[in-house]
Amino acid sequence: KNADTFFSDNARVGLTFDDITLATRYSEILPRLTKVDMRLSEQLVLNIPLISADMDTVTEAEMAAAMARNGGLGIIHYNMPEKRQIREVAKVKNDVHGLIQEPIAISPESHIADVLEMIEIRGFKFHTFPVVDIQNKLVGLLRGRVVKSRYRGVKVADAMTPLEQVFTIQESDIADDPIGAADRFFNDHMGIHKLIVLDKGGHLKGLFTMSDIERIREEESRDVKPSRDASFQLVCGAAISATRTPAGELDRDRILEHASNLVSEGIDALAVSTAHGHSAGVGDVVKLLRGEFKDLSLIAGNVTSAEGVEYLSKCGADAVKVGQGPGSICTTRIVAGVGIPQLTALYVCSKAAEKTGTAIIADGGITKSGDIVKALTLGNAVMCGSLFAGCREAPGSILEINGKLFKQYRGMGSLTAMKAGSAARYGHESHAKKSDKVAAEGIEALKEVSGSLDDTLRQLVGGLQSGMGYLGASNLAELRSRARYIRVSPAGQRESSPHDVVELKTTKED
Ligand code: XMP
Repeated sequence: KNADTFFSDNARVGLTFDDITLATRYSEILPRLTKVDMRLSEQLVLNIPLISADMDTVTEAEMAAAMARNGGLGIIHYNMPEKRQIREVAKVKNDVHGLIQEPIAISPESHIADVLEMIEIRGFKFHTFPVVDIQNKLVGLLRGRVVKSRYRGVKVADAMTPLEQVFTIQESDIADDPIGAADRFFNDHMGIHKLIVLDKGGHLKGLFTMSDIERIREEESRDVKPSRDASFQLVCGAAISATRTPAGELDRDRILEHASNLVSEGIDALAVSTAHGHSAGVGDVVKLLRGEFKDLSLIAGNVTSAEGVEYLSKCGADAVKVGQGPGSICTTRIVAGVGIPQLTALYVCSKAAEKTGTAIIADGGITKSGDIVKALTLGNAVMCGSLFAGCREAPGSILEINGKLFKQYRGMGSLTAMKAGSAARYGHESHAKKSDKVAAEGIEALKEVSGSLDDTLRQLVGGLQSGMGYLGASNLAELRSRARYIRVSPAGQRESSPHDVVELKTTKED
């Protein structure tokens, strides 16, 4: 109600985060006890409402895995060959398991060279594999220490540890508490790092690794729980492009083939994201994917209108990204003269989403935790690029300039990113299909290196929880209903930041 009055009073003004502040409310809520989980779709729940942007200087496997470990989600960008994107997703999905229900097994008839090739192609970090016959019965274990180039010509049957020497456990013995059973086994068997699960007939049913079990135990003691799928793997998203044939038609076969490969790797969400989501191109891809993958979470965008939200949700999107031009590296508003300041865009879109039931992702323009609090009074999650691009987990190397450390951060609509994207998707740069856009709508920039993603997220989520405490909101639904907006004058804005003092920078060591 307050949002209705406030935004209709300001109907002809586009507002963004710094234009408003939130009023405090009576509270019995302790910030650290607030719940910040959100539902992105029927199948996908995140434990923190933060998503890392599908940008080539923000999210590849390392960032996506770290986001999921902290309860969020990373969307792996598509400015790379399709095969490589699949490998990046596989790295995240294989990062940590409880019980690996369908372990990669090999035949005793294959050779070490075949195993090495498979590891290379699929980007596996592990080198130990159960060996099974054609009925999927365990016959041995190929240990990492023999998966070496020098043994390329050796047959797996001759290199494996035979069945009698492999540690196994019956499926029925782990039914009640799989992690507990595995934990006890590794405690009792010093030096053993793999435990294979079999059914009564000796068929392979799963695999535990000690390092995974140790990480899970450590994570259980933390406040924020990782975002995992039903088989205990970290969740991962990927962006998918609306690839076209040379004749300009949507390349349905190629899009579906790539999506199927991503689904086979266990992808949790596909994002069809372009600068203009309220368009036939994006809608058609969303419809295509929805028709083929009924249970897959689909994110689409970007839009800034109620009609845009309605259109994409009708096409089959579970979540819609909102934001045109608020991003730190965006020049869409300058180049195209188009876009709506982000808070107003979020308000308009959130009104439509109330009717469609679509989740709203506030994408771009978030520069501090207070912006996240404001964005979540209207949307369900936020997507950030700039805030994560300086983290260790972001792709790219560190540059030193005048004693300061930086990482590259560039808009996906910048000239170099567009060139890299088409070169990756269409072959060599000189043969690359020309982008649909002539003028760049993003810049190339640098971000000062900001340490680990864990620390950055701790600060951001801590700020979000403080905001919830001030509003007396114990969860994100209450944050939305309890928000009261106040327009801020330029003097009010100045007052909001530290002023009239010389700030001392305190380092962590202090
Ligand atoms: P922040 O503010 O978090 O914004 O750095 C990240 C978001 O910006 C969008 N994006 C672009 N927008 N031109 C644009 O107009 C670009 O080149 C560009 N690249 C990324 C995108 O929505 C991202 O999540």
